[in-house]
Amino acid sequence: MFIYAHRGASALAPENTLLALRTAISQQADGIEFDVFQHQNEFILIHDRWLHRTTNGIGNIDSLLLEQIRKLDAGAGETVPTLFEALQCIGPSCQINIELKGVRDVPLLLRYVQDACKTLSIPRTHILYSSFDHHLLKAIKAISKNTRIGALTANKPLDYARFAEDLQAEFINADVTFVDKNFVYDAKQRGLKMGVYTVDQPEDLLRLKSWGVDAVFCNNPLNARLALADLTSD
Ligand code: G3P
Ligand code: CA
Repeated sequence: MFIYAHRGASALAPENTLLALRTAISQQADGIEFDVFQHQNEFILIHDRWLHRTTNGIGNIDSLLLEQIRKLDAGAGETVPTLFEALQCIGPSCQINIELKGVRDVPLLLRYVQDACKTLSIPRTHILYSSFDHHLLKAIKAISKNTRIGALTANKPLDYARFAEDLQAEFINADVTFVDKNFVYDAKQRGLKMGVYTVDQPEDLLRLKSWGVDAVFCNNPLNARLALADLTSD
């Protein structure tokens, strides 16, 4: 089962910072997930539209200039990274899941990432875009049908993974609270890979693995790997 570091190794370093990304790389996570907002013509790593939970700033991200956001402390003296800095930090070392939180200009984002990947020698196949905003995912596919997407859901829809199949997603990524065997089975029947977030409990990891879940998003990737190794050897 593929292990993504959730918001970087966010149990060990401030979420969505370069330190969290570096920690995930040092833990040899299979992939790293982080959250992205658009700020004018730039993209930054942050989970919330409002600054106060993860930085020493106040207000929402659009109320500050980029230079002001970049001067904030995102924890442990870390700054709010740009998407380019994040891609540069990870490079070709592992898979990258860019979760789109607040993105207004999809063509700009795709060009930005394509250019960065070229500059940084990151294979296109390493990039997976995901979002709860399925309109954004549809817009990505309309521009570039070979771009990999993962459809996020915090629900268990009546027709299970159908919406993700309709979006031509590679992954459906669902909240651990609502994932059961039927949901995983349905996703598989539709030819989708199933990802589950956020999974840090060993019992959950083992259960999901036994159902054939393809990927989990973990705040502490190393602990997840150790837990899976321990539990599987019993
Ligand atoms: O991509 C999975 C997960 O990160 C989605 O939820 O709130 O942690 O961004 P959230
Ligand atoms: Ca996320």
